[in-house]
Amino acid sequence: GAPVDVDISKMEPGQLIRVAWRGKPVWVLNRTPEVLSTLATLDSKLADPVSNESMQPDNSKNPLRSIKPEIFVAVGLCTHLGCSPTFRPEIAPNDLGPDWKGGFFCPCHGSWFDLAGRVYRGVPAPTNLEIPPYRYETDNLIVVG
Ligand code: FES
Repeated sequence: GAPVDVDISKMEPGQLIRVAWRGKPVWVLNRTPEVLSTLATLDSKLADPVSNESMQPDNSKNPLRSIKPEIFVAVGLCTHLGCSPTFRPEIAPNDLGPDWKGGFFCPCHGSWFDLAGRVYRGVPAPTNLEIPPYRYETDNLIVVG
């Protein structure tokens, strides 16, 4: 599959862009300062907070799992059996219960991922969402692949 360009110049804070790369959904999310500060509080609830057991390029092997803190890029497929999780950025209270801090919810078997794609403990998915290879061609143009 060819690399895919993603223009992020017009992204609003909180916005998610979906593209396709090698037949897979890839998400690009513009994370707000509130999201970044929430992510820093979740480690004790996560199965692999520093991504030792998960798949990402070296440039995204950090707690925020990204090259630039605000821009998150991930493959949008659950690491359990490959359903596509739902973007649920809102913080509880909601139908997901009082512990929901915003993230991606997999409706197939109920896996929870935070807005760095990190999987919570005690759900079926074994590892964090995969981060694809990507780079910045310019400040506003990401190339996935
Ligand atoms: Fe996502 Fe099973 S495929 S929880």
